[in-house]
Amino acid sequence: MDLFEHQAKELFADYGIPVPRGLVARTVEEARSAAEQLTGRVVVKAQVKTGGRGKAGGVKVADDAADAAVKAEAILGMDIKGHTVHKVLVEEASAIAEEYYFSFLLDRANRTFLAICSAAGGMDIEEVAHSTPEKVAKVPISAITGVDRRFAREIAIMGGLPEKSLDGAAELIEKLWCAFVDEDATLVEVNPMILSADGEVKALDGKVSFDDNAAFRQKEHEAYADKAAEDPLEAKAKEKDLNYVKLDGDVGIIGNGAGLVMSTLDVVAYAGENLPGKPSPANFLDIGGGASAEVMAAGLEIIMSDPAVKSIFVNVFGGITACDAVANGIVAAFKLLEERGESVTHPLVVRLDGNNAALGRQILHDARLKGVELVDTMDDAAKRAAELAAVGA
Ligand SMILES: Nc1ncnc2c1ncn2[C@@H]1O[C@H](COP(=O)(O)OP(=O)(O)OP(=O)(O)O)[C@@H](O)[C@H]1O
Ligand SMILES: [Mg+2]
Repeated sequence: MDLFEHQAKELFADYGIPVPRGLVARTVEEARSAAEQLTGRVVVKAQVKTGGRGKAGGVKVADDAADAAVKAEAILGMDIKGHTVHKVLVEEASAIAEEYYFSFLLDRANRTFLAICSAAGGMDIEEVAHSTPEKVAKVPISAITGVDRRFAREIAIMGGLPEKSLDGAAELIEKLWCAFVDEDATLVEVNPMILSADGEVKALDGKVSFDDNAAFRQKEHEAYADKAAEDPLEAKAKEKDLNYVKLDGDVGIIGNGAGLVMSTLDVVAYAGENLPGKPSPANFLDIGGGASAEVMAAGLEIIMSDPAVKSIFVNVFGGITACDAVANGIVAAFKLLEERGESVTHPLVVRLDGNNAALGRQILHDARLKGVELVDTMDDAAKRAAELAAVGA
């Protein structure tokens, strides 16, 4: 999960990192009153989860509250790289003496953490890194020894920061490392990290990405979720603990194992290519190893509540969970949904292979579920599911 700048700064503040005072505004009026509260010069900043806001005109200085309203009017609703601006951060304008760059991130290729530091920070950091890479220090960080104040100071020196900024930068960097570790982040970036006119080192911008694999032990991160941007079907699936991703086609997909589901998406897209309406996958859904009736029912329910879906393809390769268990799961799921008044109304193509496939097919055959077709191979089943979606087109 990625945070908005204002959320990143709230988090930084919790760790004692100096950030400018600021308020979030969703309307022009809110921006005006935020600026009135802050008094003096303010900066109005687009809150979107993408970089390059400043260059796109999404960061503007305002002299007073009236001017802040004008700037907010221009920024709210703006499109920045496909992200619509729904809110702005109004914050006190800092007197900037120098702009630096600093980040901690997970360096997957080298199986380590990395600190990146440069005295040449600000909006052109990408260009600096490209044309004068020697100005950007990249320092591997051991997960075991981490970063203390002394090491933080050394990193700042390697980044070319001047003597007058070293104490402040070392303190900020050390605290940022604490945040990075405690919050299970994969990225914390401060660009620019500034030296203000009165000699303070501050975070003027913030980017934070959390490692979603750690969500189970970071319950308070849920509060950062951007509910408005979430797909309603994905949100519903998340509540049911399903690995579901909404796509824009019309063939609902259920499979066991992420790899199998990924290749199912490819095969269905290929099968639909030359059919009328070009049917393609409506979703990714991996029901995992133990395909119980409940999980199967939850999966079918989510897929059927997608109005774009015209046919459903259940592609299962029996492994530890054998095909007869999956077949029984499908039969029980049909019953469960019927009892809830949500009977399966879509044509359903099932391909079962692997452990106990013959028995699984027999169970489905005997159950005579309405609209269910058994197809032996993955390619043929994909073709059939695509055809059924095309017929309905
Ligand atoms: N509170 C502030 N006071 C004074 N100047 C600011 C303030 N916030 C931002 N700026 C100026 O605006 C520039 C751009 O701001 P910021 O870094 O937040 O956005 P950005 O870099 O364009 O966005 P992104 O980091 O998402 O690409 C900063 O480099 C800084 O010069
Ligand atoms: Mg920035």
